[in-house]
Amino acid sequence: MPVNIAFCFTGFAPDTWMAAFRQALPEANLFAWQPGDPPRPADYAVVWRPPQAFVDAHSGLRAVFNIGAGVDALVGLRLPPGVPMVRVEDAGMGVQMAEYVTHAVIRHYRGFERFQADQARGVWEDRDPLPREDFPVGVLGLGVLGARVARAVAAFEFPVAGWSRTPHQLAGVRTYAGPEGFDEFLAATRILVCLLPLTAETEGILDRRTLSKLRPGGYLINVARGAHLVDDDLIALLDEGRLAGATLDVFRTEPLPAGHAFWHHPKVTVTPHTSARSLVRECVTQIAGKIRTLGQGQPITGVVDAARGY
Ligand code: NAP
Ligand code: GLV
Repeated sequence: MPVNIAFCFTGFAPDTWMAAFRQALPEANLFAWQPGDPPRPADYAVVWRPPQAFVDAHSGLRAVFNIGAGVDALVGLRLPPGVPMVRVEDAGMGVQMAEYVTHAVIRHYRGFERFQADQARGVWEDRDPLPREDFPVGVLGLGVLGARVARAVAAFEFPVAGWSRTPHQLAGVRTYAGPEGFDEFLAATRILVCLLPLTAETEGILDRRTLSKLRPGGYLINVARGAHLVDDDLIALLDEGRLAGATLDVFRTEPLPAGHAFWHHPKVTVTPHTSARSLVRECVTQIAGKIRTLGQGQPITGVVDAARGY
């Protein structure tokens, strides 16, 4: 029996993804759902920010596959009991995230923003190298992406620390866990990288209290979700000179609204939620593999724990 796979992507058409699935699972029957379509059975769903009506319109679901790593837009969905929600695990995002974060760390540490400003003014002015050990990097979240980033930054010989919910061991990375390890982790960090999932526990975690505990000259790189950050707290700390700068890839409202203070703040670099994109070929290969594995009655990885929120 061919499997039926329903697609629902909010904000963009699923055509490219469906074409890749047709190649990866030629035996499957694929269809894109539109609001108002009559209910029909589906074995699997492939989604990006689907409404509840999409879930309700499909009986017999065996799993729902999110085409991204973060599932914060899905945890409010009511799935039938026992139907797993599955996130993308790396699938080419790890190397992109490692590129983005190491670039931001090195750009700040080596003062490339200042060299760019010097060039604009026609100024030739070298600066003495700064001790690398004065720029310890702390990574919030040591999951698939956080661990990859921590390893990449450590390869450039920065001191690296990582913080997670449960204890981890990672070569070359000093690790901390849970609320009891948080303040010590922050006190050991100058450049803070956020790679946490957005959950009830982590929303607003990048606030004045947290950011004030970084070492002097603190710098923030947020590549997780905009709602981790309390925007006004960051702006105040930058303006007070308590933080040196920030590179922000994610925002509470996306696209970042015209007129938001981040757009023109001299200490803030803005990118359009691009640090690690879902790559069609890699994600489809991974999801199609998991559909085959489930079809053989075998367990898969990447299943979201709804109670934990990630
Ligand atoms: P993951 O594998 O689920 O890892 C999450 C990590 O966060 C784990 O180490 C987990 O700890 C830790 N964590 C969760 N709740 C915590 C808490 N309350 N206190 C301390 N640590 C906590 O996720 P991932 O694949 O690395 O992705 C991380 C996030 O990146 C995604 O959720 C998404 O929001 C974001 N993302 C952004 C982009 C972008 O383009 N900007 C792209 C992809 C992903 P344990 O290990 O102990 O469970
Ligand atoms: C992108 O932000 C993702 O969560 O995959």
